[in-house]
Amino acid sequence: MFKSLRPRVKEILTGQESVEARLHQLCKLLKTNVPHYDWVGFYFRNGEKEELKLGPYAGEPTDHTIIPFGKGICGQVALSNQNFVVPDVMAQDNYIACSITVKAEIVVPLFLKGQNVGQIDIDSNTPDPFTEEDERFLEFVNSEVAKIL
Ligand code: SME
Repeated sequence: MFKSLRPRVKEILTGQESVEARLHQLCKLLKTNVPHYDWVGFYFRNGEKEELKLGPYAGEPTDHTIIPFGKGICGQVALSNQNFVVPDVMAQDNYIACSITVKAEIVVPLFLKGQNVGQIDIDSNTPDPFTEEDERFLEFVNSEVAKIL
């Protein structure tokens, strides 16, 4: 599944539309084609502020459009520069719930010229669905996104 999605990711990102429109299409591609991806979105650093701002996403609207560094899974990744795989969100103390249906989450940082400038965030309604394949695929996605930023 991830192997066949890679060329489609590249195709969308090299399109002619605005960066925002391409990222939105990419979120929709992932949400539609990966059964355990129920919410797919990008957060980016909000200028020079120590906070993340919601970018393009696919799924239910969220109230969490601004997340301070250190808060929630996303805010922790902004500081750690590491992938964060959460098999069970209920077991996390520092977690911001977006929907009661969410069981698991993965956040992978996005690097531009070595700087952590944002992240892709995926919520799943399936418990413990993420493997290293998700991590490698999402690292690939972010490296492709970095090329158009
Ligand atoms: N759950 C995230 C907040 C963002 S929503 O999942 C869209 C967190 O704990 O950082």
